[in-house]
Amino acid sequence: MKYRNLGELKVSAVGLGCMGMSHAYGEVSDKKEMKELLAKAVDLGCTFFDTAEIYGTATEPHHNELLLGESLKPYKDKIAIATKFGIQFDYSSPTVPLPLITDSRPETIKKSVDGSLKRLQRDYIDLYYQHRLDKNIPIEEVAGCMKELIEEGKIRAWGLSEANEETIRKADKVCKLTAIQNRYHMMYRNYETLFPTLEELNIGFVPFSPLANGFLSDRYNKTSTFNDEKDYRSKMPQFKPEAYDKNEALLNLIRKLAYEKSSTPAQISLAWMICKKPYIVPIPGTRRVERLEENLGAADIELTT
Ligand SMILES: NC(=O)c1ccc[n+]([C@@H]2O[C@H](COP(=O)([O-])OP(=O)(O)OC[C@H]3O[C@@H](n4cnc5c(N)ncnc54)[C@H](OP(=O)(O)O)[C@@H]3O)[C@@H](O)[C@H]2O)c1
Repeated sequence: MKYRNLGELKVSAVGLGCMGMSHAYGEVSDKKEMKELLAKAVDLGCTFFDTAEIYGTATEPHHNELLLGESLKPYKDKIAIATKFGIQFDYSSPTVPLPLITDSRPETIKKSVDGSLKRLQRDYIDLYYQHRLDKNIPIEEVAGCMKELIEEGKIRAWGLSEANEETIRKADKVCKLTAIQNRYHMMYRNYETLFPTLEELNIGFVPFSPLANGFLSDRYNKTSTFNDEKDYRSKMPQFKPEAYDKNEALLNLIRKLAYEKSSTPAQISLAWMICKKPYIVPIPGTRRVERLEENLGAADIELTT
């Protein structure tokens, strides 16, 4: 495994997104299997694990943090866990994806951080992201709250998710940002406009859904179906039958590169962003050991400009 820096935080060049183990991709995963998978990830040199206080189910809204807390306890000092505050899902809604309720009031954040620390069984959170902007709370106020949490030793670093340049600059002025976690993959490149700002301010970039929710792995096709109520892919445009035709040229290019590099489409999709900038650390999510090995292997693939 290779390692790189998000600001001052050193992590493996590929992390592990843990959301799908508890939320958004169908039924909740088997706990024993996920404990084994998380141990395997550490074994393979992965030191960066991504979760959020809201990755859970209607009956256990914090399922993911609890799972990580228990599974990663033996590796406490070897790894970094990133978690997030500032949104709740509206579990009473029948729609998929579930609507979000934002709340970044400092009093709410303070309750969140204590809850996450307890569930993660850690003395501090390595990287704490605001999950979504709260339009009722100025970002400077959130940044001020982060400063206090750093001084109290409850968090080591902080970041923003789905943030734009203006918010990043305002937040960074009050309390130094370590990473931005935004959606980014070959089919969604909008945030490349942020790269100069991130370089200027020495902030890392953590792409979420780096495989376009699995689409770029080329392991799905027109006949793939997903559980309507629990699997968000049932509503995602890239998994509609017509999208496979529209994206055929892209998939062909990825297949060709994968063949040339004796690798797989998922590995090419991840290597594409890893090789783009030294401060990019994708966090692909998987619940399968063979895919974990495959995805972490992307760190070893060299692509030229
Ligand atoms: N900040 C935010 O708002 C936000 C939003 C979404 C996600 N995230 C974070 O980002 C992480 C990653 O995003 P994501 O899970 O949405 O999307 P992703 O990593 O692009 O794709 C995950 C999906 O692809 C499948 N997959 C993964 N590797 C594969 C491979 N090698 N071959 C075939 N299929 C593969 C997984 O299925 P299997 O599990 O069956 O392998 C899963 O369904 C999440 O776990 C979460 O921590 C953050």
